[in-house]
Amino acid sequence: MKTVLSGIQPSGDMTLGNYLGAIKNHVKASKDPSTQSYYCVVDLHAITVRQDPKLLRERTYAVAAWYLAAGLDTDQSTLFVQSHVRAHTELAWLLSTFTQIGELERMTQYKDKSQRHKHNINAGLLTYPVLMAADILLYNATHVPVGDDQKQHLELTRDVAIRFNNHYKKELKKAKQRGFIIPEPAIPEIAARVMDLQYPENKMSKSAESAGTVLLADTPKQIEKAFKRAVTDNEANVAWDRANQPGVTNLLGIYCAVKGLTPDQAVAEFAGKGYGDFKGTVADAVVAELEPIQQRFAELIEDKAELDKILAKGAEKANQQAQPIVEMVKDIMGFVK
Ligand code: TYM
Repeated sequence: MKTVLSGIQPSGDMTLGNYLGAIKNHVKASKDPSTQSYYCVVDLHAITVRQDPKLLRERTYAVAAWYLAAGLDTDQSTLFVQSHVRAHTELAWLLSTFTQIGELERMTQYKDKSQRHKHNINAGLLTYPVLMAADILLYNATHVPVGDDQKQHLELTRDVAIRFNNHYKKELKKAKQRGFIIPEPAIPEIAARVMDLQYPENKMSKSAESAGTVLLADTPKQIEKAFKRAVTDNEANVAWDRANQPGVTNLLGIYCAVKGLTPDQAVAEFAGKGYGDFKGTVADAVVAELEPIQQRFAELIEDKAELDKILAKGAEKANQQAQPIVEMVKDIMGFVK
């Protein structure tokens, strides 16, 4: 059986990148009867950058509500909040002794964030990927569906898990335990890195304040405006060419991800069309995709009691899976029961 785990930080307003690179694929996997899946609102990760407590609470609910509005099947999958499952922080501590400072200092996200938050380069910002490794390893995840930006963290998770399994080979064998499952990244072929519409060399990001960011909560008018203004080029040719036409290729990628098309199919559809038409069609597709989701979101976010109920059920299921794993790890490491 395939086991999937993924997480989203409630650290900003959700973007089209989060939806196309993550949520849309998670929703699909949540309905697959041959996959067991866990989706986690990673609030403990979000505090590595200062958060307003009121906003953190609101955004934690919002990430859960976007998942549900997009159609996540919570009968077949588990939706929960990271801080509701104590095993995450406990395993993170244990794994931190299997992670080298040098490895953490090499992480691109750490380098970026410590540049952007120079006044607050806290220890959590550095050890962030250890917590992420704990998130993944607690659920015996075989696959981790994420955007391209998380690949490096996944590689570190694999290294830490392999290191632990090798170090305790004897103890694991004696206890008839297999140790950690080594997870594979599952990065989508299309929309693995949705770029900013104004700066197609930058990833579209929750934390960037740019007119080229499309938020899931944007109105149709705002979405149309953002696409109308999207940066293209002087080629006057809709082609899939990331190196030479990054803006156009990004728009094509968004269109493909929304409509379920291959790049060739999308390029054929726009053959001979001008950029104005092309941008308008992409904007219309995004609006049509998001409108029903936005309507459901508006209802769900108003009913916190119902969200609490769903998240409590998720936490219970997640705890049942995670607690025995952390117990196994402590036992293998020699902690007294
Ligand atoms: P986060 O919160 O930044 O993003 C959530 C998910 O959205 C994807 N994503 C994108 N995909 C395509 N294009 C973009 N522009 C774009 N921006 C974001 C991310 O790749 C991610 O899949 N460290 C993680 C959260 C995390 C996690 C985990 C993920 C914590 N624990 C365990 C997987 C498994 C993060 O900051 O994602």
